[in-house]
Amino acid sequence: MWDRFLRACRREPVDATPVWFMRQAGRYMPEYRALRAKYTLLELCKNPELATEVTLQPVKAHRVDAAILFADILLPLEPMGAPFEFAKGEGPVIHSPVRDRAAVDKLRVIEPEDGLGYVLRAIESIKKELAGKTPLIGFAGAPFTLASYLIEGGKSSNYALTKRMMYNEPETWHALMEKFSEVVRRYLHAQIKAGADAVQLFDSWVGSLSPTDYEEYILPHVQHILLDVAKAGVPVIHFGTDTATLLELQKRGGGSVIGVDWRTPLDQAIARLGDDVAVQGNLDPLLLNAPRELLTRRVDDILRRAGGRAGHIFNLGHGILPETPPDAVKFVVDLVHERTKRS
Ligand code: CP3
Repeated sequence: MWDRFLRACRREPVDATPVWFMRQAGRYMPEYRALRAKYTLLELCKNPELATEVTLQPVKAHRVDAAILFADILLPLEPMGAPFEFAKGEGPVIHSPVRDRAAVDKLRVIEPEDGLGYVLRAIESIKKELAGKTPLIGFAGAPFTLASYLIEGGKSSNYALTKRMMYNEPETWHALMEKFSEVVRRYLHAQIKAGADAVQLFDSWVGSLSPTDYEEYILPHVQHILLDVAKAGVPVIHFGTDTATLLELQKRGGGSVIGVDWRTPLDQAIARLGDDVAVQGNLDPLLLNAPRELLTRRVDDILRRAGGRAGHIFNLGHGILPETPPDAVKFVVDLVHERTKRS
């Protein structure tokens, strides 16, 4: 069934539980490493033909039920006026971190065609290759997660500079959030127009905030994006990690599917979220490195907690790690399909 992923997002009956993985294309795959030996990550992202090839690698290798666009959440930073690079072993490095009102005021609220056209061309090319056999997920980073990189200058363990701006200069903070939320709103609409069958908002690091701060500093900006993107009529997945105390607020933020990490048992997440959204998750990525017997028990446990519910998309609680054996990924795809097959 080509659309079992989309049907599950809409909480419609499916022939088997759909499964895909965050970071399903990447360094754990020998096919990906072979391309990365020749091109940088940004070169892969900026070349629609190469981005298409990488996007399709896990679809071909593991028969996942959805493809995810090969790109990165940080790509909008460059046309907005904050260039960066992926430094070897260090992750992203933003050349001039944004830490005051003057720097926020200089950021451009771009149109996606103006600076991110290569992503839209990649979507068109991937759609052609998928030929209606597998749906394509587009994505963007959420304002908090993007701001954390822009302000800290790279990855961070405690988000000290980010929270300093949030608490001490709330007007600067909200000005930055407004710029990001408008760019992301336009960008997701443009991806859908280019052919994305669903989109995911990655708020990977928002779990570092309390519910009170989420409501005050994040919620209005996420709503600006997601309540509007909902009008495009495609499934919208709203994802974060460490969100055990935030799930209800994330639901208010928007999205027809809520991504749940492994720290919250899936049945508890479902009970709290209610019947009017689907859920995605939530295997600990490191279980892919565990013995098969344990991996099998943990997959079965998630399926039991999902209780045969129509609105469940199987995924990890966060992205696949580079040390993951590819055959474990294939094993989970086949196991989920086999266990949930309805004739
Ligand atoms: O999921 C996919 O297969 C699609 C591609 C994708 C990438 N990044 C490619 C990538 C997606 C969806 C992302 C999202 C992304 N990027 C997030 C949100 C998801 C998450 O993991 O929380 C974040 C926070 C980023 C920012 C980012 N990009 C960091 C922190 C790093 C360096 C850390 C690392 O893993 O090395 C990247 C680099 C990156 N983006 C890689 C890939 C495949 C690493 C591989 C490489 O260097 O070739």
